[in-house]
Parts: sequence; structure tokens; C-alpha cells
Amino acid sequence: MSAILITGAARRIGRALALGLAERGYELYLHYHASAAEAAALVEQVRSMGRTCQSVSADLAKAEEAAALVSRCQSLGPVSHLINNAAIYSDDPDDFSAVHFDRQMAVNLRAPLIVAEAFSRQAPGGASIVNLLDSRVGALSARFVSYMTAKAGLEAATEMLALRYAPRVRVNAVAPGPILASAVETPDTIEAFQARTPLALALSPNDIVEATAYLVTARALTGQVLYVDGGNRFTSRTYV
Ligand SMILES: NC(=O)c1ccc[n+]([C@@H]2O[C@H](COP(=O)([O-])OP(=O)(O)OC[C@H]3O[C@@H](n4cnc5c(N)ncnc54)[C@H](OP(=O)(O)O)[C@@H]3O)[C@@H](O)[C@H]2O)c1
Repeated sequence: MSAILITGAARRIGRALALGLAERGYELYLHYHASAAEAAALVEQVRSMGRTCQSVSADLAKAEEAAALVSRCQSLGPVSHLINNAAIYSDDPDDFSAVHFDRQMAVNLRAPLIVAEAFSRQAPGGASIVNLLDSRVGALSARFVSYMTAKAGLEAATEMLALRYAPRVRVNAVAPGPILASAVETPDTIEAFQARTPLALALSPNDIVEATAYLVTARALTGQVLYVDGGNRFTSRTYV
């Protein structure tokens, strides 16, 4: 089975992706940055499922570490699929400052593009990339200007890279709605957001796993964004 590199794989949605894709038979390169202990435990868990697995650390805020990441993932053979999951969120909805902006751009936009470029150079036939966006790219507001500008840039890049790497590599994206709490949103806030979406669904990391696994295998799809948000981006329209 082919090998997948997941960035930011040690915790939360990245961890769910690792376990879900291991269940589906893939070998895994698990990237992490600060979560070394969680990554080591996850490697053991994936191996106990009968899959080969290697962890690799990198600070993706540094362009040179992002550029070298794929070349350090060769022990299981070439990387066939790349999931650009690692990201930083903002700790303040009013995140428009030079410091926030530069950090958001470095981790959430420049890094996935640099990793994708290195990935594409070694990608075997049938390869693909899945970029993790945010469903609010489909309903931009005045909040989180730096974070959302980076995610909107990654949405645009998904289309451009789909053309740049065709026909060898497909490039798609998943845009999650509110799933897990953060420094800004508590579990109660997330529950309230979910209840207000058209489907009123308790979204889970597993919903992201299913969409990502589909995009990895969907041989006719490129440049697509799958919104996995229970209709979250339409929420304002359901009450007017
Ligand atoms: N959670 C949600 O409800 C939600 C909603 C919309 C969109 N999304 C998107 O879905 C994806 C996963 O969400 P999440 O909440 O699970 O993400 P997260 O916990 O905020 O971040 C995922 C991982 O990114 C890694 N990361 C952060 N800064 C890094 C750096 N400088 N270098 C390398 N790695 C770095 C971290 O790895 P270490 O822990 O190893 O440092 C972290 O565990 C993200 O792209 C996010 O924007 C999530």
C-alpha cells in the first residue's frame, strides 16, 4: 500500500487522520513539531495495527525545514500522498497585526506550498495532495483576518497547484466546519455553532477522515474543495 505524509499528525484531527488512514491500509509518515511524546505513542499505535510508520519532526514556520521534510521521509519508499494538515489558529479574532500575519502566512500558507513542491518532485504516478482549509473560506467575515487570509490563499493555491502538477499529481482540499475547541472557542461555543448549522450536526474528526480518504482515492477529482461543515458556511442565510 502507498505511503502518506500527514503534517501535524500527533494530535486532534491529524491524529484521527493517521488512525483512519492506517485502518484503510496506508503506510504513514507522521510529521510533528512540539508534540514528540504524542507522536511517539501514535507511531506505536499505528504499528500495532500492522502498518509501517515513521515519525519526522520539523518546524514548518521555517522555510528550510519545510523544504527538507519530504526528503527525510524515504524509509517506507516514496511519499504517494501528502496531507497538509498542520496549522496554527489565532488566539484572538482580531488577529490583524504584522506579527500575526507573518506567522499565519509562514505556517498556514507558505509551508504547505513548499512541502507540496518538494512532494511533487518525487511523487509517483497516482499521487495526490489534500490541503486542510476552513469552511469559513466560503463565508468570509471581519474576524480572524490573518488566519482566514492564509486559508483563503491555500484555497486559491489548491486550484493553481492542481494545474501546476497535473497530470501526475491531483490536488484537492477539505474545508472543515467547527469541530474541536481552541484558545478562542470553548467546547460549548463549538456545540452552539454546530447546533446553528443547517444540518445541526455534531461534526467529528472522523467526518474529516472520511472526506480526506475519499479525495486520496478519487482519481477524477482535482482542484476540488469538499466542505465538511454541516452547511456551516450557509448559516447566516438560514436566519434572514
Ligand atoms: N479544529 C477545527 O475545528 C478546525 C476547523 C476548521 C479548520 N480546521 C483545520 O483543520 C486542520 C486540523 O485542525 P486541528 O484543530 O487539529 O489543528 P491544530 O491542533 O490547531 O494544529 C495541528 C498541528 O499543527 C502543528 N503545527 C502548528 N504549528 C506548527 C509549526 N510551526 N511547525 C510544524 N507543525 C506545526 C502542531 O503540531 P505539534 O502539536 O506537533 O506542535 C499541531 O498539533 C488545520 O489545518 C485547521 O486549520 C480545524
